[in-house]
Formats: sequence, structure tokens, C-alpha cells
Amino acid sequence: MALSNYTSPKWWKEVIVYQIYPASFKSSKPANEANGWGDVRGIIEKVPYLKALGVDVVWTSPIYKSPQADMGYDIADYKTIDSRYGSLADVDELIKTLNDNDMKLMMDLVVTHTSNQHDWFIQSAESKDSPKRDWYIWKPPRGYDSTGRPIPPNNWAQILNDSSSAWTWEKKTREFYLTLHTSQQVDLNWENPEVVAAVHDVMHFWLSRGVAGFRMDVINLISKDQSFPDAPVIDPSCEFQPGEKFYTNGPRFHEFMHGIYESVLSKYDTITVGEAPYVTEMSEIIKTVGSTAKELNMIFTFDHMEIEDIKTKGESKWSLRDWKLSELKTIISGWQKKMIQWDGWNAIFFECHDQARSVSRYTDDSDEFRERGAKLLALMESTLGGTVYLYQGQEIGMRNFPPEWDPDVDYKDVESINFWQKMKKLYPAGSKELKEARELLQKKARDHARTPMQWSDEPNAGFTVPGVTPWMRVNDDYRTVNVKAQIEFVGQDLSVWQYWQQALQVRKSHKDVFVYGEFEDVDFGNEQVYAYLRTGARSKERWLVAMNWTGNDVVWEVPACIEVDEVVSSSLQATTVREDGTKVKLQAWEGVLARCK
Ligand code: NOJ
Repeated sequence: MALSNYTSPKWWKEVIVYQIYPASFKSSKPANEANGWGDVRGIIEKVPYLKALGVDVVWTSPIYKSPQADMGYDIADYKTIDSRYGSLADVDELIKTLNDNDMKLMMDLVVTHTSNQHDWFIQSAESKDSPKRDWYIWKPPRGYDSTGRPIPPNNWAQILNDSSSAWTWEKKTREFYLTLHTSQQVDLNWENPEVVAAVHDVMHFWLSRGVAGFRMDVINLISKDQSFPDAPVIDPSCEFQPGEKFYTNGPRFHEFMHGIYESVLSKYDTITVGEAPYVTEMSEIIKTVGSTAKELNMIFTFDHMEIEDIKTKGESKWSLRDWKLSELKTIISGWQKKMIQWDGWNAIFFECHDQARSVSRYTDDSDEFRERGAKLLALMESTLGGTVYLYQGQEIGMRNFPPEWDPDVDYKDVESINFWQKMKKLYPAGSKELKEARELLQKKARDHARTPMQWSDEPNAGFTVPGVTPWMRVNDDYRTVNVKAQIEFVGQDLSVWQYWQQALQVRKSHKDVFVYGEFEDVDFGNEQVYAYLRTGARSKERWLVAMNWTGNDVVWEVPACIEVDEVVSSSLQATTVREDGTKVKLQAWEGVLARCK
């Protein structure tokens, strides 16, 4: 291993972070107050549950005051808690409860844009002379078409609605303002030092209250190419085109990140993770996550999340292709090795609120194999180098909801709704295209991660009291897939929850190997088995992970250079995992963890 800071111990490298989607986690409210939404007091109730699972840090998706145009990623006041979720006093109590249990709270920082209901924007829109005018990005129209309709300053498409312009028209002052995601999410003008100072102030506000750090929403989109050029035309049939190359890791991005570090982060002992889409080059990424970069601890990269996308299409989210195991290996192993080599740090995640369920995407979510697939993914995630992020429900192998759910009724996400509306406008009912659109929603919609947490087999899955309608429909399978059943499960194998709990314990008792250790692929070309060696950074202990990524039993020839000493755990306890020192029999979707000589 290259000499570097990679192996220097840091608390934020070793923790297990658990992401909570507050609307769907747990409602604490009694029948006379319940509104179908989860809340902060519901999270407080579940702290002992999280502790028992092995969680160290809780990250909550946004709970600030918001009109919820994009489920809180449209903030109307950074210092007030949305009344659906509770109050500042509740958050203070959550921080205290977590700290009392030796845990920490991480918040979502959404400062690339605000809601159009934020007072800053309301003032900005009032007049061209408003002192807040330059807090956002305003531009005159490029001209007017023959019908008198103003033409947006460039051809960029919205990210969550690609048939709309990224620019929204404001009638009173007759200018456009930039809204990269939806028309309700207005991009802040980071070129204005007052905006930068206001963001720093928000960060100090939360850190001084005891928050341990931030997940920073689309943070690499804060600096835009100030000439706002037209994007190349990728799909001539669309009026608007993806413009990300003009606003991803833009000209002043690193300067702004250094500013955040110098003025805020360096004053506290924080954990920071940036959500950083559209960037893949290591030479660029390392400027943010390198151990001496003075920007962020780590970022989320999305190559593995985009493995099913057809990249040649303009809007690749709504496309699907088959992929081979070696492609996944290239991505996962690639990041493992690159971060060690370049002295950075990985954020390991297979689910979040923006992705369909991992067991449905990467493995097999049928009743026969769902548990096996979920445990295989748990084995993989808990043995990779980096900081582990676990998303609510992943610990019980929650899966996508069924294909029969109606896009007009059961889907709630603005991105899915925009896509479905667009397709309905373009194609007639019963057409092949609409059928395909439903398949895409079934496989890839963000909604699948957002259904209420399945706590028990009681009505509403124990998420809220019976008789109340949750903001989003509960997945039909909650009677069999739920926390209570899995914690209480007694059988030959472990339940998915029990397996996660054990896997996290194994990781924590061998940090030298799994958090800080070296990484080496084994039998890379094998399209059925994904295997790798982890070697302790200091101890030089060698551990082998071997996973059968197929629905059939496989006998795997252990390469001659590896001598398996002891099989420490299998995702299927009942299996005899070793036939002799040279072959391992892996059942369908089984993974094993072994110590080597
Ligand atoms: C990324 C967030 O994770 C997603 O949910 C949101 O829609 C966009 N950023 C815009 O804030």
C-alpha cells in the first residue's frame, strides 16, 4: 500500500451511518394528531433500535421548513423545523438522546438551491433593485417567439423534469431565474459573497447546536459557468438539453469548498459527505476527498447506481440495460483501489432515497431469493473499505413495490410524476411506449425507497397508528417483511436484520482489515462469483469474501495463492461452505467470509 494518510485512524472513517427519510421512518403521533407523516419524535423513539443494529451516526434527509415540492429538498427556512416533523426543541432532544447513546446526528445541507418560498427568494423576486436580487441567478430572455412567449437564456433542461427549461419566468420583473431541479427549487448565486456568508452562518448554527456534520446535497453544482452557454444537442427531438457539463465542478467549486472548510468545518470535528453527481475523473474527485484537500471527508459517487443506464441516451435515468458482474466489479473494485492509491476516502452505499431498492436492482427480489440477495449485499457492503452508509429498510431487505401500483395514484415523487406525465402526453394509452415507461418506473423510480418503514405486521406496518392514511402507501409485503419478525426470527439461517447486525459487528471488530485494509480482486474474470481479499493495514491478516451472484449453486475453485483457513461466516448459516481447501461450494446468492493463512 502506498504511504499515505489512508490508514490514519479517524472516527468518521469507522462509523456506520444510517440514513433516515423522515417522512417514512416512524410517526410518534397518537390517533388524534396523526397526519400520516413520520416525525423527529418518531426517530427519538427508535434510537435504541438503531443502537442495537450497530449504527453510530444518523443522517436525516431534510426536516427544515419546506413546502415539500421535492420532499424537503426545497428549503424555505434553514433554521426552522417543518411543523410536520416537529420543532427545534425536538431536534435538540434527538441530538441529546443520540449523544447519550454514543451516537451522532448528521443533517442534510441543501444549499445549491432554496425553495421559491424562502424569504430570500421572495425578496429577490420583488424587484430588480431588491438587495436580495443577486442572491439568485436572474437573466433577461434571449428574445420572444412569434407568440410573444419569452425565450429562456439557454437550452438547459431541468434535472427532475427534462421537458422543461431550467429557467423559470417571473412575470413581474420580466426575467428568468435559474431552477436546475424543479421550478420550485431556485439556484443560489454563489458568486455573491453574501450568499456564501449566509451558508456559512447556517452551518455554524447547526454545528454549534451539536450536529456532527452534513451530507451536502448536489454540492458540486454550486459553481456555474458564468457565460451560461447552450448545451450540446444530444437529443434533437427535445427542446431542452442536459447542461450538466456547465455546472458540475464549475470554475469556482474548489474555491467555495475551501471557503466552507476554512470558515466553518475546520472549527469543528465533523463528518462530511458530498453528493457529487456527474463527476467521474479521479484527478478531479481527489481535489475534494484527498486527505489533504481541506474540502470534504468523502463524496457519494454514482457509477454503480447508473450501471443499468443506457449512457448514449440524453436522459439516461429512464433507460434500462442488462449488465454483467464484471462491470459491477470494475466499478466497485475500481473505487476501492483508486481511493487507496490516491489517498482519498470512499463513501460506501447501495441505497438512498433517490434510488430503487438494492435487492430489486442488483440481486433477485423474488420471495425465493430476496433474503439471500439482501444478505449478499450486506456482506459486500460491510466488507468494503470506506465509511458505510445504510439506508432505512435496507437492513430488512425491503424491496420495490409491485408493478400493479398505479403511477397516477401511488407514485408521489416529483421526478416520477413528471416522467409519467410526459410519457402520457407523448404516447397513447395501451402503447408499447407507455408499457415500457411503467417498467422503468417499476425498476428505477425513487418512490421505491420512500414507502413507510415496515416495523411490524400491524396495520400500516406499525409506521403510524391504524386508521390513518400514510403520506405514501405501505408496500404490500409488510406482513412478511418487517423489523419485528426479523429481530425475533429463530431458525437455521439468520434473518436479514440479524445478518446485518452480525456483519456490522464483524466489521467493527476488524477495522484494520475492513475499514483500513488493502483490497485485491480475486478471479476477476469470473462472471458468477465476485471475490476479493482484504488485508489488514497493520496486522496483515488476510480475509476472503466470495459471493455467488447467480440463482444457481456454484462450486468455486479457490485460486492457488489463497489458502482458506477458517470460514468465519456465511450468509446462509446452514451451508457446508468448504468442500476442501481448494473449492468452495456456494449456494444460489450465497456469500462467505473466510480467514486466510
Ligand atoms: C439530490 C437529492 O438527494 C434529491 O432527492 C433531490 O431531488 C435533489 N438533490 C435536489 O435537491
